[in-house]
Amino acid sequence: MLPVSTVDFFDDELPERAWIYGGLAVPGALELRVAPFTIATPSGAWTLALDHDEISVQPGDTGAARVLLDDDDVASIVNDTATPMTLVASARLRMERGQLGAFLDWWVVLRSLIDARPVHTTGSITFLDQHDAPLDLARSFTPHDADADIAHFLAEAGFLHLEAWFDAGEMEAIDRDMDAAFEHYNADDGRSWWAETADGTARAVRLQQFEEHSQTLAALLADERFLRIGALVPHAYVARTTGEALEKPIGVVKGISDLPWHKDCSLGMHSYNCCGITVGISVTGADARSGQLSVVPGSHRALVQPAFHRREWGLPPRDLPTRRGDVTVHCSCTMHMSHAPVERERRVVYTGFGLPPREEVPLDMQGVRAVREEAYKKVSQPASRVAATPPR
Ligand SMILES: [Fe+2]
Repeated sequence: MLPVSTVDFFDDELPERAWIYGGLAVPGALELRVAPFTIATPSGAWTLALDHDEISVQPGDTGAARVLLDDDDVASIVNDTATPMTLVASARLRMERGQLGAFLDWWVVLRSLIDARPVHTTGSITFLDQHDAPLDLARSFTPHDADADIAHFLAEAGFLHLEAWFDAGEMEAIDRDMDAAFEHYNADDGRSWWAETADGTARAVRLQQFEEHSQTLAALLADERFLRIGALVPHAYVARTTGEALEKPIGVVKGISDLPWHKDCSLGMHSYNCCGITVGISVTGADARSGQLSVVPGSHRALVQPAFHRREWGLPPRDLPTRRGDVTVHCSCTMHMSHAPVERERRVVYTGFGLPPREEVPLDMQGVRAVREEAYKKVSQPASRVAATPPR
């Protein structure tokens, strides 16, 4: 991680970048109606504001909201190895005035200025097919469709629904392998997540390295049907050789099983790792009553806050019901969520493809990984309730 002097950053670097790149941030910041926001650190306090259509950075504590950050937090956020959601997930967020939303809004502005990237504005994301006609976002694909069509949809929409990609028989085998695998995991093994249901039962909800317990999955990860998905995108993506099996219980009251709206880069590293390709193999099928996945089409192309969906973006979500053997694909920076099941539990295996390693970038994923792997112990999802998904 590059060293960052808090004082130099807020006194010199950020004002300079606001001067150069303010035009990328201001239209979106106006839509977000950002109010003055104070970042207080051991090195001093600065207030960021939108002032006569310019981003200003002034020493002092005059913000409507105020967050307290260590100097290390400032460096991590500037380097994009952490975000406000990292502090939330590790139960370290210190909002001394105002709400997390204000911090998220200003994080978007900061990323815009640091990365020279426009803050998303309503209507700026359009969806076109290969003939420049409106793209049908309800479209799904089968193995008989042309790779070029599938790849174009993925690039535009940031997700895919691949129907009958794998065989029902293979899914039944993986289902049985999951039944047998649970006894090999325990709450302190560092490779599983656990959640508590209303009756006090501790349930394993995420089994990592599941391929060690499923020859069928191990074979699928080397199968050309799986590798074909990674080959849809350029740049020689690297296939993951591991998969994690998820079971989604009904009625979780503690821990994390059903993640609310987030990008997979919500804890940081978007600048280094996005976009990776996440592949969800639907073992049992999923629908509105059994905890299906939903995605926000186009969000992978939008600089928006990395968690929680906002209607004002003009990017409506889509539900992705699946049958056994279907596959969902989403980019690591496509916003998505899994609904809490209310009628039937479901099972899914997640794996995917990553960008090829770039030697010139010193990657330190340890911090992000540590926060992610401990998150289910530090924060809980809201207690599940019936009718989690309003009908659309
Ligand atoms: Fe995710």
